[in-house]
Amino acid sequence: MRVLVTGATGRLGRVAVPRLRNEGFSLRAVSRRPDANAGDSDGGGDGVEWMAADLATGAGLAEAVAGTDAVLHLASSPNRRTYEIDVLGTRRLTVAAGHAGVRHLVYVSIVGVDRVPLGYYRHKLAAEQVVAAGSVPWSVLRATQFPGFLAELLAGASRLGPVLGDPAVLAQPVDPGEVADRLAVLLRAGPSHRVEDFGGPEVLRFDEAARAWLAARRSRRPLLPVRIPGRLGRELRAGALTTTATPTGTRTWADHLAHTYGGTGRR
Ligand SMILES: NC(=O)c1ccc[n+]([C@@H]2O[C@H](COP(=O)([O-])OP(=O)(O)OC[C@H]3O[C@@H](n4cnc5c(N)ncnc54)[C@H](OP(=O)(O)O)[C@@H]3O)[C@@H](O)[C@H]2O)c1
Repeated sequence: MRVLVTGATGRLGRVAVPRLRNEGFSLRAVSRRPDANAGDSDGGGDGVEWMAADLATGAGLAEAVAGTDAVLHLASSPNRRTYEIDVLGTRRLTVAAGHAGVRHLVYVSIVGVDRVPLGYYRHKLAAEQVVAAGSVPWSVLRATQFPGFLAELLAGASRLGPVLGDPAVLAQPVDPGEVADRLAVLLRAGPSHRVEDFGGPEVLRFDEAARAWLAARRSRRPLLPVRIPGRLGRELRAGALTTTATPTGTRTWADHLAHTYGGTGRR
């Protein structure tokens, strides 16, 4: 099966590309800067065709989708021009894929996009709707947070010294490699519409996740509890970012920390 992967350089794309290639998919990967990524062993340069495309303008999309059987759409821009890239860019991609006769578009979304009142989540939900309304038969998989993303959040939350955060917010980190394996199954299964959510093996409170992260980094910074106000805080504490769906991934936050920092990840 010939598959175009958007967002091939991202947290998920970097691990999905080599896994899918090893599973026997024939891959084309797009990036706005493919020259910087082709040949990167982590990105699966070998045997992967890299092309330039930009969802914000549509440049390169027609060429990228031409001759492919399926599109795995992982590209996203959480922090800037989200509407143009995630919503309108997804529409540009679905239109191009429709014209090219692509038979399956798989879109990765986030658990909680319909509950968490954040602009990025509203745009992801709108992008899901664009995919569902498009002419290409589709599948949508919502996943929980990747550990690398959670670690970036924690690093950002501790810029001023202590780790700032709402201790009761619930998270369920899921290994992107395991998400990639699920995506391989979906690509083989064909268009399935919205499929069962995919989360990590355990639900953690923010303070548990933060303490394990600090311990793994041998950091003695304190936690400074800051309650997130309003509906956003209520949803995050009530588990809007988590799922009870099964099966789940098996790789834990402690596994991620042990792999990244070489320790046990626990106090
Ligand atoms: N991070 C999480 O915890 C998480 C959890 C669940 C679901 N998801 C979803 O999973 C998907 C992948 O997330 P991620 O964390 O791997 O993303 P990421 O690391 O932020 O990577 C974003 C990717 O989007 C591409 N991109 C950005 N703007 C683009 C544009 N204008 N045109 C074309 N490509 C563009 C980037 O490619 P270049 O810079 O190379 O062009 C990059 O490969 C996203 O849809 C995200 O919403 C993420």
